[in-house]
Amino acid sequence: MDFTLTEEHLMIQQAARDFAQQELLPGVIERDEEQRFPSEAVGKMAELGFMGMMVDPEYGGSGLDTLSYVIAMEELSKIDASASVVVSVNNSLVCWGLETYGTEEQKQKYLTRLATGELLGAFCLSEPEAGSDATSQKTTAIDKGDHYILNGTKNWITNGNSADIYLVMAQTDVEKGHKGINALIVEKGMSGFEIGPKENKLGIRGSDTHSLLFNDVKVPKENRIGKDGFGFKFAMKTLAGGRIGIAAQALGIAAGAYELALKYSKERKAFGKEISRHQAIAFKLADMHTQIEAARHMVYKAAWDKDHGENYDLSGAMAKLYASEVAMSATVEAVQIHGGNGYVKEYHVERLMRDAKITQIYEGTSEIQKIVISRSILSD
Ligand code: CAA
Repeated sequence: MDFTLTEEHLMIQQAARDFAQQELLPGVIERDEEQRFPSEAVGKMAELGFMGMMVDPEYGGSGLDTLSYVIAMEELSKIDASASVVVSVNNSLVCWGLETYGTEEQKQKYLTRLATGELLGAFCLSEPEAGSDATSQKTTAIDKGDHYILNGTKNWITNGNSADIYLVMAQTDVEKGHKGINALIVEKGMSGFEIGPKENKLGIRGSDTHSLLFNDVKVPKENRIGKDGFGFKFAMKTLAGGRIGIAAQALGIAAGAYELALKYSKERKAFGKEISRHQAIAFKLADMHTQIEAARHMVYKAAWDKDHGENYDLSGAMAKLYASEVAMSATVEAVQIHGGNGYVKEYHVERLMRDAKITQIYEGTSEIQKIVISRSILSD
């Protein structure tokens, strides 16, 4: 087993690290405070090829593997999880879904522009009454021959206002349950499609999260992804990969908080020496370092599974479950190590602590990951 990263992986890591320091760090506190979407940074990430990292160059992507993607996600998330979730949704949920299940026409029309970052995507599954219980879709897509009529509301949609292209799950045939759900490509500006209110969130405040309202939106049938009734499986398969991206985000938040805490503990003095030389702090750092390294191995393993054609439902869910727990505990400890300074914005760790919480909630709560994991280990 070879644990060394290739030259290419190291270059991607350095590029993402430099970008995060130079372009994401300035203004990150203000964007969080003002709930301002990082539009300029997203444009620059598009130029660097971060918006369609795993997409075939034939469709405008960077043609990289999943390991490259999680390495970049970790580095971006160390500094700004609001920016990295934009990358994650566009890459894992939108581009991957379209590249894997879209028709050639859909790929030419949408994927080519999403992968270059010219357009931004959103993934719309959650509803006011269908969060974890994703089969209970109330949004309807009624079959009208050559088009669907879409009605309903979606909630907590990342890139809700900033996106151009929305992959929307909706129920076509209630009697068929989850087998009657379709995934439709909806364009911003389609008549009857409205962006609802923005959420005022605890963390990832720079990312823009909205509800969406569909009122008799006419969606051409050629915008359906996959066969009739494939929408729920499409969502599940797409989310399985998305969870690896969020696991990498959680890893980055944890590692970012750890790096700040380590630096601070070597500078700050108390009781006559650097606080890192007090065992109470050194042991916290030891725990954080160990847990982050374990989470990194799990995230890399899930990415490796995906790159090698192995089933990644289990490894992805385990990586997300564990990395998000580590993100939460490491950021709490980072605040503690910073003492009073940790509680004020300029030291960054309070923001990372707030950002960490969402990684235990979106793309499936920790409880959902445990459902996926337990079903997998009990299925034999
Ligand atoms: N791959 C392929 N098919 C899958 C699958 C997978 N990973 N997981 C489930 N399915 C299939 C099942 O095989 C089943 O199909 P059949 O009937 O043909 O066998 C079908 O989907 C229904 O599966 P279940 O019976 O397991 O359904 P369930 O109601 O018990 O729910 C669940 C399963 C795992 C709990 C699922 O509902 C789930 O993942 N819920 C969480 C949803 C979620 O993650 N939401 C996040 C929103 S998106 C987001 O957060 C993005 C963002 O903005 C950042």
